Amino acid sequence: MKHSKRLDALPPYLFAELERKVSAKKAAGVDVISLGIGDPDLPTPQYVIDALTEAANDPATHQYPSNRGRPEFRGAVVDFYRRRFGVELDAETEIVPALGGKECIFNLSLGFLDPEDVALAADPGYPPYTGGPTLSGSRSVLMPLVPELGFAPDLDAISAEDRARAKLMFLNYPNNPTGAILPEGLFERVVEFARENDILVVHDAAYTEVTFDGYVAPSFLETPGAKDVGVEVFSLSKGYNMTGWRAGAIVGNPQAIESYWRLKTNIDSGMSEFVQLAAVAALNDGGEAPKRMSEIYARRRDLVCHALAAIGVEVTKPKGTIYIWAPVPEGHTSASYCELVLEESAVVISPGGAYGPNGEGWFRISLTVPDQRLTEAVERLRSTLARSGH
Ligand SMILES: Cc1ncc(COP(=O)(O)O)c(C=O)c1O
Repeated sequence: MKHSKRLDALPPYLFAELERKVSAKKAAGVDVISLGIGDPDLPTPQYVIDALTEAANDPATHQYPSNRGRPEFRGAVVDFYRRRFGVELDAETEIVPALGGKECIFNLSLGFLDPEDVALAADPGYPPYTGGPTLSGSRSVLMPLVPELGFAPDLDAISAEDRARAKLMFLNYPNNPTGAILPEGLFERVVEFARENDILVVHDAAYTEVTFDGYVAPSFLETPGAKDVGVEVFSLSKGYNMTGWRAGAIVGNPQAIESYWRLKTNIDSGMSEFVQLAAVAALNDGGEAPKRMSEIYARRRDLVCHALAAIGVEVTKPKGTIYIWAPVPEGHTSASYCELVLEESAVVISPGGAYGPNGEGWFRISLTVPDQRLTEAVERLRSTLARSGH
């Protein structure tokens, strides 16, 4: 049996590979601390679970959902966007439920790219920005994000040929993996660029609700003209500890939303209605859950940054996301360092190179484990560094 050339063209998904290695270690009795995948360790808020239970007790929620979503779900997204971002959405034409941001980001490539097209993708960036185009038979053109430019893509550096072929642009602030927040004026420049080049902007808002030090992350749709050129993919995964629920929404440009809906009706049968109703409870909480989680992550961020500084690894304290982006010690590639750390200290960290060529030389720490495990993980990193002569 032979799978497709498209699948062959994909590297193994980063965390699938890591999971395999970690399982082998755990099976051998090793106490592995995983700071790899960004999967919140704390449970989903009880009121969301209660809403799910109540909804699931109603047999009317047991049938196929519609891909448009229940009116309650779309209404809650409208209210949330108005309250949180001051953005007005039309519940009928500008919202479709998404089974988490990941499927949505991937499916957008299927819906908007032909083989001769390209997607402009942040590098480093969330892997589906490049995997989606590849699997859809197209390809991505990388937009380097470098610290010197505040992790903003240099739009002027995109060639005329790539501009002409580009149909999608993937952006994400607060940013995974760098932890960067939106650089000043970037969304305005992006709207203009997208208008000039007829590109659909996809802003991945996975981390807008996880921010620190008083920073409040904007929606792309707050930018004047953004709805003419773009959509936003919102997810409840990180801010509400709901990664396992697969709950999110794509919102924005009505033509793009209509195309996405049409595509989705051919792929899946929508988000289960009890999950939609649980998501309504989450979205209606007035931001309480994400606020509490942000406080926890801010504390963990301080703890890790402090401990890293003490072992000579200087990092910029992120104002959002659940990640610390740190340079690997001299003499290592990101892969060799992460391999060393896993083998010698049984700590999983993510190699920056897996997020794109501009991630090389960096590693990512996820803050999704309890404080004392984080402290122990950094202590183990210290011993590994000391043993390797740094
Ligand atoms: C930037 C970014 N976008 C989207 C996602 C996907 O989240 P989900 O599919 O759980 O909504 C993640 C998950 O780590 C992410 O880091």
